[in-house]
Amino acid sequence: MDAIDVIVTKRDGRELSAEQIAWVVDAYTRGEVADEQMSALAMAILLNGMDRREIGRWTEAMIRSGARMDWSALDRPTTDKHSTGGVGDKITLPLAPLVAACGAYVPQLSGRGLGHTGGTLDKLESIPGWRASLSNDEMLAVLREAGAVVCAAGDGLAPADKKLYALRDVTGTVESIPLIASSIMSKKIAEGTGALVLDVKVGSGAFMKNVEAARELARTMVDLGTDHGVTTVALLTAMDRPLGRAVGNALEVAEAVEVLAGGGPSDVVELTVRLAREMLAAAGVSGKDPEDALKDGSAMDAWRRMIVAQGGDPDAALPVAAESVEVPAPASGVLGKLDAYQVGLAAWRLGAGRARKEDAVSFGAGITLHARPGDTVREGQALMTLHADEPARFARALEALSGSYVIGETPDPDLLPLVIDRITA
Ligand code: URA
Repeated sequence: MDAIDVIVTKRDGRELSAEQIAWVVDAYTRGEVADEQMSALAMAILLNGMDRREIGRWTEAMIRSGARMDWSALDRPTTDKHSTGGVGDKITLPLAPLVAACGAYVPQLSGRGLGHTGGTLDKLESIPGWRASLSNDEMLAVLREAGAVVCAAGDGLAPADKKLYALRDVTGTVESIPLIASSIMSKKIAEGTGALVLDVKVGSGAFMKNVEAARELARTMVDLGTDHGVTTVALLTAMDRPLGRAVGNALEVAEAVEVLAGGGPSDVVELTVRLAREMLAAAGVSGKDPEDALKDGSAMDAWRRMIVAQGGDPDAALPVAAESVEVPAPASGVLGKLDAYQVGLAAWRLGAGRARKEDAVSFGAGITLHARPGDTVREGQALMTLHADEPARFARALEALSGSYVIGETPDPDLLPLVIDRITA
Protein backbone atom coordinates (compact mmCIF):
# COMPACT_ATOMS: atom_id res chain seq x y z
CA MET A 1 0.00 0.00 0.00
CA ASP A 2 1.03 3.50 -0.67
CA ALA A 3 -0.41 6.69 0.81
CA ILE A 4 -0.33 8.52 -2.53
CA ASP A 5 -2.58 5.88 -4.17
CA VAL A 6 -5.09 6.23 -1.34
CA ILE A 7 -5.07 10.05 -1.61
CA VAL A 8 -5.44 9.95 -5.42
CA THR A 9 -8.35 7.47 -5.19
CA LYS A 10 -10.34 9.87 -3.03
CA ARG A 11 -9.09 12.98 -4.83
CA ASP A 12 -10.59 11.51 -8.03
CA GLY A 13 -13.89 10.83 -6.26
CA ARG A 14 -13.62 7.04 -6.17
CA GLU A 15 -14.56 4.68 -3.31
CA LEU A 16 -11.76 3.67 -0.92
CA SER A 17 -11.45 -0.10 -0.52
CA ALA A 18 -11.59 -1.87 2.84
CA GLU A 19 -7.85 -2.62 2.54
CA GLN A 20 -6.95 0.98 1.72
CA ILE A 21 -8.90 2.31 4.72
CA ALA A 22 -7.59 -0.28 7.20
CA TRP A 23 -4.04 0.34 6.03
CA VAL A 24 -4.06 4.14 5.94
CA VAL A 25 -5.66 4.58 9.38
CA ASP A 26 -3.29 2.06 10.96
CA ALA A 27 -0.20 3.41 9.20
CA TYR A 28 -1.10 6.99 10.17
CA THR A 29 -1.55 5.99 13.82
CA ARG A 30 1.90 4.32 13.76
CA GLY A 31 3.51 7.39 12.16
CA GLU A 32 4.22 5.67 8.83
CA VAL A 33 1.83 7.94 6.91
CA ALA A 34 2.91 11.55 7.38
CA ASP A 35 0.70 14.37 8.68
CA GLU A 36 0.84 16.14 5.31
CA GLN A 37 -0.41 12.99 3.56
CA MET A 38 -3.27 12.49 6.01
CA SER A 39 -4.12 16.22 5.66
CA ALA A 40 -4.45 15.78 1.90
CA LEU A 41 -6.63 12.69 2.36
CA ALA A 42 -8.82 14.43 4.96
CA MET A 43 -9.32 17.34 2.53
CA ALA A 44 -10.17 14.92 -0.30
CA ILE A 45 -12.74 13.26 1.98
CA LEU A 46 -14.15 16.66 2.98
CA LEU A 47 -14.55 17.63 -0.69
CA ASN A 48 -15.68 14.28 -2.17
CA GLY A 49 -17.36 12.57 0.79
CA MET A 50 -17.52 8.89 1.69
CA ASP A 51 -20.43 6.47 1.27
CA ARG A 52 -22.00 4.41 4.07
CA ARG A 53 -19.67 1.46 3.47
CA GLU A 54 -16.55 3.62 3.54
CA ILE A 55 -17.67 5.48 6.68
CA GLY A 56 -18.31 2.13 8.40
CA ARG A 57 -14.86 0.86 7.46
CA TRP A 58 -13.20 4.13 8.51
CA THR A 59 -14.96 3.99 11.89
CA GLU A 60 -14.01 0.33 12.34
CA ALA A 61 -10.36 1.14 11.60
CA MET A 62 -10.38 3.93 14.20
CA ILE A 63 -11.96 1.64 16.81
CA ARG A 64 -9.32 -1.02 16.05
CA SER A 65 -6.51 1.50 16.58
CA GLY A 66 -7.07 1.10 20.34
CA ALA A 67 -8.91 -0.88 23.00
CA ARG A 68 -12.66 -1.54 23.07
CA MET A 69 -14.06 -1.45 26.61
CA ASP A 70 -16.24 -4.25 27.89
CA TRP A 71 -18.94 -3.94 30.55
CA SER A 72 -20.24 -7.50 30.36
CA ALA A 73 -19.32 -8.01 34.03
CA LEU A 74 -22.18 -5.66 34.98
CA ASP A 75 -25.59 -7.09 35.83
CA ARG A 76 -27.69 -4.40 34.07
CA PRO A 77 -27.64 -2.85 30.57
CA THR A 78 -25.39 0.10 29.75
CA THR A 79 -26.62 3.22 27.98
CA ASP A 80 -25.02 6.57 27.18
CA LYS A 81 -25.71 9.94 25.59
CA HIS A 82 -23.51 12.08 23.38
CA SER A 83 -24.21 15.72 22.61
CA THR A 84 -22.56 17.40 19.64
CA GLY A 85 -22.09 20.39 21.95
CA GLY A 86 -23.80 23.64 22.68
CA VAL A 87 -23.97 26.71 24.90
CA GLY A 88 -25.23 26.02 28.43
CA ASP A 89 -25.46 22.31 27.63
CA LYS A 90 -25.02 20.81 31.09
CA ILE A 91 -27.50 18.01 30.45
CA THR A 92 -25.04 15.15 31.11
CA LEU A 93 -24.69 16.30 34.73
CA PRO A 94 -28.26 15.59 35.85
CA LEU A 95 -28.87 12.98 33.13
CA ALA A 96 -26.21 10.39 34.01
CA PRO A 97 -27.24 9.96 37.67
CA LEU A 98 -30.92 10.21 36.71
CA VAL A 99 -30.65 7.27 34.30
CA ALA A 100 -28.62 5.35 36.89
CA ALA A 101 -31.41 5.94 39.41
CA CYS A 102 -33.87 4.46 36.91
CA GLY A 103 -32.01 1.18 36.56
CA ALA A 104 -29.36 1.35 33.80
CA TYR A 105 -25.60 1.85 33.99
CA VAL A 106 -24.13 4.95 32.36
CA PRO A 107 -20.41 4.65 31.46
CA GLN A 108 -19.62 8.03 29.92
CA LEU A 109 -16.26 9.05 28.51
CA SER A 110 -16.35 12.79 28.05
CA GLY A 111 -14.23 15.69 26.86
CA ARG A 112 -13.01 19.16 27.68
CA GLY A 113 -14.25 22.29 25.93
CA LEU A 114 -12.47 24.10 23.14
CA GLY A 115 -13.85 27.28 21.61
CA HIS A 116 -17.28 28.64 22.51
CA THR A 117 -18.84 25.37 23.76
CA GLY A 118 -18.05 24.05 27.21
CA GLY A 119 -16.80 20.57 28.08
CA THR A 120 -18.46 18.32 30.64
CA LEU A 121 -15.14 17.54 32.37
CA ASP A 122 -14.41 21.25 32.87
CA LYS A 123 -17.81 21.67 34.50
CA LEU A 124 -17.34 18.72 36.86
CA GLU A 125 -13.80 19.82 37.72
CA SER A 126 -15.25 22.95 39.30
CA ILE A 127 -16.41 20.65 42.14
CA PRO A 128 -13.60 20.65 44.75
CA GLY A 129 -11.67 17.35 44.73
CA TRP A 130 -13.42 15.78 41.70
CA ARG A 131 -11.09 13.73 39.51
CA ALA A 132 -11.60 13.19 35.74
CA SER A 133 -8.88 10.58 35.11
CA LEU A 134 -9.77 7.05 36.15
CA SER A 135 -8.30 3.65 35.28
CA ASN A 136 -10.66 1.04 33.79
CA ASP A 137 -10.87 -0.69 37.17
CA GLU A 138 -11.75 2.59 38.88
CA MET A 139 -14.44 3.23 36.24
CA LEU A 140 -15.97 -0.14 36.96
CA ALA A 141 -15.86 0.52 40.72
CA VAL A 142 -17.61 3.91 40.31
CA LEU A 143 -20.23 2.32 38.05
CA ARG A 144 -20.95 -0.37 40.66
CA GLU A 145 -21.08 2.23 43.45
CA ALA A 146 -23.12 4.97 41.76
CA GLY A 147 -24.56 3.48 38.56
CA ALA A 148 -22.96 6.26 36.50
CA VAL A 149 -19.44 7.45 35.80
CA VAL A 150 -18.32 10.45 33.77
CA CYS A 151 -14.58 10.58 33.15
CA ALA A 152 -11.84 11.36 30.62
CA ALA A 153 -11.07 8.94 27.80
CA GLY A 154 -7.63 7.36 28.28
CA ASP A 155 -4.96 7.36 25.55
CA GLY A 156 -5.81 3.77 24.64
CA LEU A 157 -9.25 4.61 23.26
CA ALA A 158 -9.38 5.30 19.49
CA PRO A 159 -5.85 6.83 19.35
CA ALA A 160 -6.24 7.24 15.57
CA ASP A 161 -9.08 9.70 16.22
CA LYS A 162 -7.07 11.65 18.77
CA LYS A 163 -4.28 12.18 16.22
CA LEU A 164 -6.59 12.82 13.27
CA TYR A 165 -8.85 15.24 15.16
CA ALA A 166 -5.84 17.38 16.16
CA LEU A 167 -4.76 17.41 12.50
CA ARG A 168 -8.25 18.29 11.20
CA ASP A 169 -8.41 21.12 13.71
CA VAL A 170 -5.46 22.88 12.04
CA THR A 171 -6.13 21.95 8.39
CA GLY A 172 -9.69 23.19 7.86
CA THR A 173 -11.08 19.66 7.69
CA VAL A 174 -13.30 19.49 10.77
CA GLU A 175 -16.57 20.23 8.94
CA SER A 176 -16.95 16.93 7.09
CA ILE A 177 -19.99 14.84 8.06
CA PRO A 178 -18.23 11.48 7.39
CA LEU A 179 -15.22 12.57 9.48
CA ILE A 180 -17.31 14.04 12.33
CA ALA A 181 -19.60 11.00 12.45
CA SER A 182 -16.75 8.47 12.41
CA SER A 183 -14.80 10.50 15.00
CA ILE A 184 -17.69 10.64 17.48
CA MET A 185 -18.93 7.10 16.89
CA SER A 186 -15.51 5.42 17.01
CA LYS A 187 -15.08 6.74 20.55
CA LYS A 188 -18.62 5.89 21.65
CA ILE A 189 -18.48 2.36 20.19
CA ALA A 190 -15.01 1.76 21.71
CA GLU A 191 -16.43 2.94 25.05
CA GLY A 192 -18.50 -0.26 25.00
CA THR A 193 -21.97 1.13 25.71
CA GLY A 194 -24.85 -1.14 24.67
CA ALA A 195 -27.19 1.72 23.77
CA LEU A 196 -26.59 5.31 22.73
CA VAL A 197 -28.72 8.43 22.40
CA LEU A 198 -27.27 11.24 20.31
CA ASP A 199 -28.29 14.82 21.01
CA VAL A 200 -27.49 16.55 17.73
CA LYS A 201 -27.69 20.29 18.31
CA VAL A 202 -28.94 22.68 15.62
CA GLY A 203 -28.47 26.44 15.43
CA SER A 204 -25.95 29.24 15.77
CA GLY A 205 -24.39 27.78 18.94
CA ALA A 206 -23.92 24.31 17.40
CA PHE A 207 -21.59 22.63 14.91
CA MET A 208 -24.58 22.12 12.60
CA LYS A 209 -26.20 25.45 11.79
CA ASN A 210 -29.24 24.09 9.94
CA VAL A 211 -31.70 21.23 10.33
CA GLU A 212 -30.78 19.49 7.03
CA ALA A 213 -27.07 19.18 7.91
CA ALA A 214 -27.92 18.05 11.46
CA ARG A 215 -30.31 15.42 10.10
CA GLU A 216 -27.62 14.07 7.77
CA LEU A 217 -25.08 13.88 10.62
CA ALA A 218 -27.65 12.19 12.88
CA ARG A 219 -28.61 9.65 10.21
CA THR A 220 -24.94 8.83 9.52
CA MET A 221 -24.22 8.29 13.23
CA VAL A 222 -27.37 6.24 13.87
CA ASP A 223 -26.45 3.97 10.93
CA LEU A 224 -22.88 3.57 12.24
CA GLY A 225 -24.08 2.66 15.75
CA THR A 226 -26.64 0.21 14.38
CA ASP A 227 -24.09 -1.43 12.07
CA HIS A 228 -21.81 -1.96 15.10
CA GLY A 229 -24.49 -3.54 17.27
CA VAL A 230 -25.19 -0.47 19.44
CA THR A 231 -28.88 0.47 19.70
CA THR A 232 -28.68 4.10 18.58
CA VAL A 233 -31.28 6.88 18.44
CA ALA A 234 -30.75 10.58 17.74
CA LEU A 235 -32.73 13.66 18.71
CA LEU A 236 -32.22 16.94 16.86
CA THR A 237 -32.53 19.70 19.47
CA ALA A 238 -32.47 23.50 19.49
CA MET A 239 -29.23 25.41 19.95
CA ASP A 240 -30.34 28.73 18.44
CA ARG A 241 -30.52 30.08 22.04
CA PRO A 242 -28.59 28.86 25.12
CA LEU A 243 -29.96 25.97 27.15
CA GLY A 244 -31.18 27.03 30.60
CA ARG A 245 -30.06 30.13 32.47
CA ALA A 246 -26.44 29.30 33.31
CA VAL A 247 -23.46 29.36 30.94
CA GLY A 248 -20.06 28.62 32.50
CA ASN A 249 -18.60 25.74 34.48
CA ALA A 250 -19.54 26.17 38.16
CA LEU A 251 -22.70 28.12 37.23
CA GLU A 252 -23.84 25.12 35.17
CA VAL A 253 -23.06 22.65 37.96
CA ALA A 254 -25.26 24.71 40.28
CA GLU A 255 -28.09 24.65 37.71
CA ALA A 256 -27.70 20.87 37.26
CA VAL A 257 -28.01 20.41 41.04
CA GLU A 258 -31.21 22.52 40.97
CA VAL A 259 -32.63 20.10 38.38
CA LEU A 260 -31.64 17.11 40.52
CA ALA A 261 -33.39 18.79 43.47
CA GLY A 262 -36.63 18.91 41.46
CA GLY A 263 -36.34 22.54 40.19
CA GLY A 264 -34.32 24.22 37.45
CA PRO A 265 -35.24 25.86 34.13
CA SER A 266 -38.05 24.17 32.21
CA ASP A 267 -36.04 23.53 29.02
CA VAL A 268 -33.20 21.82 30.93
CA VAL A 269 -35.70 19.68 32.84
CA GLU A 270 -37.68 18.80 29.71
CA LEU A 271 -34.61 17.79 27.70
CA THR A 272 -33.08 15.85 30.61
CA VAL A 273 -36.27 13.82 31.13
CA ARG A 274 -36.75 13.25 27.39
CA LEU A 275 -33.16 12.03 26.90
CA ALA A 276 -33.38 9.85 30.02
CA ARG A 277 -36.51 8.14 28.67
CA GLU A 278 -34.80 7.61 25.31
CA MET A 279 -31.68 6.14 26.97
CA LEU A 280 -33.72 3.76 29.11
CA ALA A 281 -35.90 2.67 26.18
CA ALA A 282 -32.83 2.10 23.96
CA ALA A 283 -31.34 -0.10 26.72
CA GLY A 284 -34.61 -1.98 27.18
CA VAL A 285 -34.95 -0.87 30.82
CA SER A 286 -38.48 -0.12 31.97
CA GLY A 287 -38.14 0.62 35.66
CA LYS A 288 -38.80 3.92 37.35
CA ASP A 289 -39.89 6.95 35.29
CA PRO A 290 -37.24 9.74 35.23
CA GLU A 291 -39.73 12.37 36.40
CA ASP A 292 -40.37 10.34 39.54
CA ALA A 293 -36.64 9.88 40.15
CA LEU A 294 -36.18 13.67 40.07
CA LYS A 295 -39.07 14.16 42.51
CA ASP A 296 -38.24 11.43 45.03
CA GLY A 297 -34.55 12.35 45.46
CA SER A 298 -33.12 9.11 44.05
CA ALA A 299 -31.43 10.92 41.14
CA MET A 300 -29.84 13.36 43.61
CA ASP A 301 -28.63 10.41 45.71
CA ALA A 302 -27.00 8.86 42.61
CA TRP A 303 -25.35 12.22 41.81
CA ARG A 304 -23.88 12.50 45.29
CA ARG A 305 -22.55 8.93 45.15
CA MET A 306 -21.05 9.57 41.70
CA ILE A 307 -19.29 12.77 42.81
CA VAL A 308 -17.97 11.25 46.07
CA ALA A 309 -16.75 8.10 44.24
CA GLN A 310 -14.56 10.36 42.06
CA GLY A 311 -13.09 12.25 45.00
CA GLY A 312 -15.43 15.25 44.88
CA ASP A 313 -17.31 16.93 47.73
CA PRO A 314 -20.94 17.46 46.67
CA ASP A 315 -21.49 19.79 49.65
CA ALA A 316 -18.48 22.06 49.05
CA ALA A 317 -19.10 25.65 47.94
CA LEU A 318 -18.56 26.05 44.18
CA PRO A 319 -16.03 28.61 42.90
CA VAL A 320 -17.45 32.11 42.41
CA ALA A 321 -15.89 34.70 40.07
CA ALA A 322 -14.35 37.76 41.71
CA GLU A 323 -16.23 40.35 39.63
CA SER A 324 -19.68 40.70 38.08
CA VAL A 325 -21.48 43.16 35.79
CA GLU A 326 -25.18 43.39 34.97
CA VAL A 327 -26.47 43.99 31.44
CA PRO A 328 -29.72 46.01 31.62
CA ALA A 329 -32.58 45.67 29.12
CA PRO A 330 -32.46 48.73 26.82
CA ALA A 331 -36.27 48.70 26.33
CA SER A 332 -39.47 47.10 27.60
CA GLY A 333 -41.08 44.28 25.59
CA VAL A 334 -40.72 40.60 24.78
CA LEU A 335 -37.25 39.05 24.50
CA GLY A 336 -37.25 37.62 20.96
CA LYS A 337 -33.98 36.10 19.94
CA LEU A 338 -31.01 35.44 22.23
CA ASP A 339 -28.19 34.18 20.07
CA ALA A 340 -26.51 31.05 21.42
CA TYR A 341 -23.21 31.57 19.61
CA GLN A 342 -22.78 35.14 20.83
CA VAL A 343 -23.61 34.20 24.44
CA GLY A 344 -21.15 31.27 24.19
CA LEU A 345 -18.46 33.51 22.76
CA ALA A 346 -19.01 36.09 25.54
CA ALA A 347 -18.78 33.38 28.24
CA TRP A 348 -15.58 32.11 26.61
CA ARG A 349 -14.11 35.62 26.64
CA LEU A 350 -15.05 35.94 30.32
CA GLY A 351 -12.74 32.98 30.98
CA ALA A 352 -15.19 30.03 31.00
CA GLY A 353 -13.50 28.42 27.98
CA ARG A 354 -10.00 28.00 26.64
CA ALA A 355 -8.27 29.15 23.45
CA ARG A 356 -5.63 26.38 23.45
CA LYS A 357 -5.75 22.86 24.86
CA GLU A 358 -3.16 23.71 27.51
CA ASP A 359 -5.06 26.74 28.90
CA ALA A 360 -6.83 26.62 32.26
CA VAL A 361 -10.48 27.65 32.54
CA SER A 362 -11.89 29.97 35.18
CA PHE A 363 -14.48 27.86 37.01
CA GLY A 364 -16.56 30.79 38.27
CA ALA A 365 -16.64 32.73 34.99
CA GLY A 366 -19.69 32.83 32.73
CA ILE A 367 -23.14 34.30 32.31
CA THR A 368 -26.39 34.07 34.26
CA LEU A 369 -29.40 34.75 32.04
CA HIS A 370 -32.28 36.47 33.86
CA ALA A 371 -34.61 36.36 30.86
CA ARG A 372 -35.03 33.80 28.10
CA PRO A 373 -36.68 34.08 24.67
CA GLY A 374 -40.40 34.62 25.10
CA ASP A 375 -40.09 36.35 28.51
CA THR A 376 -41.43 39.87 29.02
CA VAL A 377 -38.81 42.33 30.26
CA ARG A 378 -38.88 45.92 31.56
CA GLU A 379 -36.45 48.63 30.50
CA GLY A 380 -33.53 48.75 32.97
CA GLN A 381 -34.15 45.28 34.39
CA ALA A 382 -31.06 43.02 34.40
CA LEU A 383 -31.15 40.82 31.29
CA MET A 384 -28.04 38.95 32.30
CA THR A 385 -25.12 39.02 34.76
CA LEU A 386 -21.58 38.52 33.50
CA HIS A 387 -19.04 36.88 35.85
CA ALA A 388 -15.23 37.02 35.51
CA ASP A 389 -12.14 36.91 37.68
CA GLU A 390 -10.51 39.85 35.87
CA PRO A 391 -12.49 43.06 35.19
CA ALA A 392 -10.52 43.58 31.96
CA ARG A 393 -12.50 40.74 30.38
CA PHE A 394 -15.89 42.49 30.49
CA ALA A 395 -15.37 44.86 27.55
CA ARG A 396 -14.67 42.09 25.00
CA ALA A 397 -17.53 39.98 26.36
CA LEU A 398 -19.91 42.93 26.00
CA GLU A 399 -18.67 43.39 22.43
CA ALA A 400 -19.53 39.73 21.68
CA LEU A 401 -23.02 40.31 23.09
CA SER A 402 -23.70 43.37 20.95
CA GLY A 403 -26.74 42.58 18.77
CA SER A 404 -27.17 39.15 20.41
CA TYR A 405 -30.74 39.85 21.56
CA VAL A 406 -33.85 41.54 20.24
CA ILE A 407 -36.60 43.04 22.40
CA GLY A 408 -39.83 43.49 20.46
CA GLU A 409 -43.57 43.15 20.71
CA THR A 410 -43.89 39.42 20.07
CA PRO A 411 -41.84 36.26 20.56
CA ASP A 412 -39.55 35.30 17.65
CA PRO A 413 -41.62 33.07 15.29
CA ASP A 414 -38.41 31.44 13.96
CA LEU A 415 -37.35 30.03 17.33
CA LEU A 416 -36.70 26.29 16.92
CA PRO A 417 -38.80 23.83 18.94
CA LEU A 418 -36.72 22.29 21.76
CA VAL A 419 -36.92 18.83 20.15
CA ILE A 420 -36.98 19.18 16.38
CA ASP A 421 -36.84 15.58 15.17
CA ARG A 422 -36.06 12.01 16.17
CA ILE A 423 -33.97 9.71 13.98
CA THR A 424 -33.99 5.93 14.47
CA ALA A 425 -32.45 2.97 12.69
N1 URA B 1 -16.45 15.95 18.13
C1 URA B 1 -15.65 14.90 17.88
O1 URA B 1 -15.38 14.09 18.78
N2 URA B 1 -15.16 14.76 16.64
C2 URA B 1 -15.45 15.61 15.63
O2 URA B 1 -14.98 15.40 14.53
C3 URA B 1 -16.28 16.69 15.91
C4 URA B 1 -16.78 16.83 17.17
